[in-house]
Amino acid sequence: MAQLPILRYPDPRLHTVAKPVQAVDPRIRMLISDMQETMYEAQGIGLAATQVDAHVRLIVIDVSEERNQPLVLINPVLAWASEERVKGDEGCLSVPGIYDGVERAAAVHVTALDGEGQSRTIEAEGLLAVCIQHEMDHLLGKVFVEYLSPLKRNRIKAKMLKQIKEERA
Ligand code: NI
Repeated sequence: MAQLPILRYPDPRLHTVAKPVQAVDPRIRMLISDMQETMYEAQGIGLAATQVDAHVRLIVIDVSEERNQPLVLINPVLAWASEERVKGDEGCLSVPGIYDGVERAAAVHVTALDGEGQSRTIEAEGLLAVCIQHEMDHLLGKVFVEYLSPLKRNRIKAKMLKQIKEERA
């Protein structure tokens, strides 16, 4: 297992549209395990392959308090979304230190392959539903700050660029 570097907003590679996983082969299994290690180490609740510059439709999630309920979603497809919507603060490992309100469907059903390549449907609500939608956006090249106003987004962009510059200095 290895930790992978996480792309930081506004890195243009975060806007890449991911391609479907063709087969859950050893290379994908290795990516899953590296992404899980990266997510746990960074104390995130979800990570999309896009964020580690691997542009395939693969997501790892763990919203449990104990950090012991890993969930793997390969080629996820949104099967249903509730009309009811909720607005909550979101953060992202690619936009460290920034939290802001985003509106999402309160509940979703998603069909995906798991880490063994088995098809399953996940019925999610609450934090898990929000997390799945956030991560599926990454696979489409969308970062949560794109839901915010252009003013806020530009502020965040400037802050991130300053952070990155300071770290390199
Ligand atoms: Ni994110």
